[in-house]
Amino acid sequence: SDLAVFSRKGSRLVREKREQMEKQKAAREATDAAGTTLGNVLGVANPAAEATEAEKIAAEVAVANGPAVDAPPGQAASEFARSKTIREQREYLPAFAVRNQLMQIIRDNAIVVVVGQTGSGKTTQLAQYLHEDGYSRYGLIGCTQPRRVAAMSVAKRVSEEMDVTLGQEVGYTIRFEDCTSDATLIKYMTAGVLLRETLTEPDLDRYSCLIMDEAHERTLDTDVLLGLLKRLVARRRDLKVIVTSATLNAERFASFFGTVPTFTIPGRTFPVDILFSKSPCPDYVDSAVKQALSIHLSHPTDAGDILVFMTGQEDIEVTCQVLADRLDQLDHGDGSVPALAILPIYSQLPADLQAKIFERATGKARKCIVATNIAETSLTVDGIMFVIDAGYCKLKVYNPRIGMDSLQVTPVSQANADQRAGRAGRTGPGTCYRLYTEQAYRNEMFPSTVPEIQRTNLANVILLLKSLGVVNLLDFDFMDAPGDETIRSAMYQLWTLGALDNLGALTSPGRQMVEYPLDPALCKMLLTAHELGCTAEVVTIVSMLSIPSVFYRPKERLAESDAAREKFYVPESDHLTLLHVYNLWRANGSRDSWCTKHFVHPKAMHKAHEVRTQLVDIMRSQRVPHRTCGTDWDVVRKCICSAYFHQAARQKGLGDYVNCRTGLPCHLHPTSALYGLGFTPDYLVYHELVMTTKEYMQCVTAVDPYWLAEMGPMFFSVKETNWGHREARLRTQREQQGMQAQLRAATGHGQAAGGLG
Ligand code: CDP
Ligand code: MG
Repeated sequence: SDLAVFSRKGSRLVREKREQMEKQKAAREATDAAGTTLGNVLGVANPAAEATEAEKIAAEVAVANGPAVDAPPGQAASEFARSKTIREQREYLPAFAVRNQLMQIIRDNAIVVVVGQTGSGKTTQLAQYLHEDGYSRYGLIGCTQPRRVAAMSVAKRVSEEMDVTLGQEVGYTIRFEDCTSDATLIKYMTAGVLLRETLTEPDLDRYSCLIMDEAHERTLDTDVLLGLLKRLVARRRDLKVIVTSATLNAERFASFFGTVPTFTIPGRTFPVDILFSKSPCPDYVDSAVKQALSIHLSHPTDAGDILVFMTGQEDIEVTCQVLADRLDQLDHGDGSVPALAILPIYSQLPADLQAKIFERATGKARKCIVATNIAETSLTVDGIMFVIDAGYCKLKVYNPRIGMDSLQVTPVSQANADQRAGRAGRTGPGTCYRLYTEQAYRNEMFPSTVPEIQRTNLANVILLLKSLGVVNLLDFDFMDAPGDETIRSAMYQLWTLGALDNLGALTSPGRQMVEYPLDPALCKMLLTAHELGCTAEVVTIVSMLSIPSVFYRPKERLAESDAAREKFYVPESDHLTLLHVYNLWRANGSRDSWCTKHFVHPKAMHKAHEVRTQLVDIMRSQRVPHRTCGTDWDVVRKCICSAYFHQAARQKGLGDYVNCRTGLPCHLHPTSALYGLGFTPDYLVYHELVMTTKEYMQCVTAVDPYWLAEMGPMFFSVKETNWGHREARLRTQREQQGMQAQLRAATGHGQAAGGLG
């Protein structure tokens, strides 16, 4: 019978695997012995010490692999086979060749800057080396990443390399998601997570080593952490800090810490041919698609994979779609065009789809990865031979004049462009196609990107630093100080939200806000909900705003999905619409089938629920009661207004809005519940402004102008709601000046306050 055949087959497989395993065990012992000799050869100063070093590693590897050998054959055997190849991969990395020298420098210094080309093993190997050298016995080995995606995928990779379950010895923590346990020794996390940990544990005593990875990216969180760690190392002599950078301008880091050693991992790179566009290209998506097709059709499939750099989810999706369509058109169903695996990657993409870029494509098809700048340094995919660089990226830019952040498509810097090109030369000589002219590269691109701290909203950072006891931000040691106007405007925003008092000190609501891993405005919404007795509703809204959109809009079923979404609409509010979706999902048993039927992302809903659970926990610990307002939606809208009155818009003509404070036009987004309803409120507040073809307000709620006057008295009064924007702006200026004058008087530091103002 089938069963008999199956079991016979099964047992034969087990036998084969057992044999295979024994062979590998023998091979491993041989390599380990070789490793010891290698240690002797490499070890210069003290050969004996190096030998014991290598022996120690060999012993540790044997221990790590030990259970696999004793474990029941079958699955364990295949695991073992995999760990063997992974081990070879590890030893092939440039970092491995200099492991001993590197660890020696780390032993001798509290802070070390490590520079190495992308893919040299900084992110995956450093933490393991520290663990293998025993540092994990004294505390966690933490490694921060600028991006969530990188933290997750690297932790997964390292858990595989160490042959442990993700979340056990190796884990990761990102905002709203903790995949660590008591067993965790190596912890990958976003820089933001570590920043928040400093609030409850200023000395970070749980950690024996901290790796600040990808410091060259100069994200806001990394920059603030660098300042905090500099202070911390002076207090904690036992702490090891390693700062890594993929670029060569590492001296900046070294001198920031007061001349610490820089260790360079010698790179192994191949030449990359750089080809510029002859003329500026009118549409970078179209040019990228053509270039990818031309590469794919003119080079044999095994000549290497393609990596395309785009700016974000939207143009990535379009690029993938158009590329697939054109391939379909070319192939007349006769298989004349070789298969191409088209793989998008951007931060909001679900994790399982992200992981696909690391997998081998089915049938050995060529891969074409279409990525944001996430693939520039954070993620390394082997086998890329062709890079197509559109030359743009999305940058968060804060405009202090209009008082808000927005994502803007901006040309990349020369450093970014070079980094992108380098991705083609990792496994062999490659080619980089730049979809811009050489002239644009030389004359129009900055040498490197402006650090985030100098271009984004600092409200969160200021709140955090204030609660860490940094009274005057000018005393804080920033690598590059943020602009005065940016600090002033963020402090002003915090003051309008009631988080800072007239003297710039943290208020009691401000102190409560710090407890939540949310933007100050969302915290404010929760605090008002506490006052008005609708925490149950508002915490749902805040959770839904903290995740990517829950609405699923597949390109081929747009009309159908839009109709499904419209059924959820609450006419006066997108926020209430989100609440409605969540409540219906819960009422329907949180079922995935319900989601699919209504074009809602099931994973996003579960995520929202998780976020909500965590926020509710924090509220409980803050003794904020869980109370519902029943169906009194006005109360909920009032809470929303209390948090976003600084982002209010007034109707000018039918359906035309202008920002109340700046007078700049802003538009309802076509996916808003308020769009095309015939009913357009006179006043509304919005969650964020998105600039695409126009300035669109994302997620809006109709508000009563009296609420604006009540909640945002610094901007509005009942009489003044009809004022022009010029008066409003003048008033804002007066308020700001008033606050600064008080600050100056209070601190008596003419210079300090002058810096703030
Ligand atoms: O940090 P750095 O750029 O120096 O290198 P890394 O991220 O540690 O990558 C070292 C190697 O691990 C590369 O060959 C990557 O392709 C591989 N890797 C992987 O296969 N899967 C991951 N999730 C991360 C890295
Ligand atoms: Mg890295």
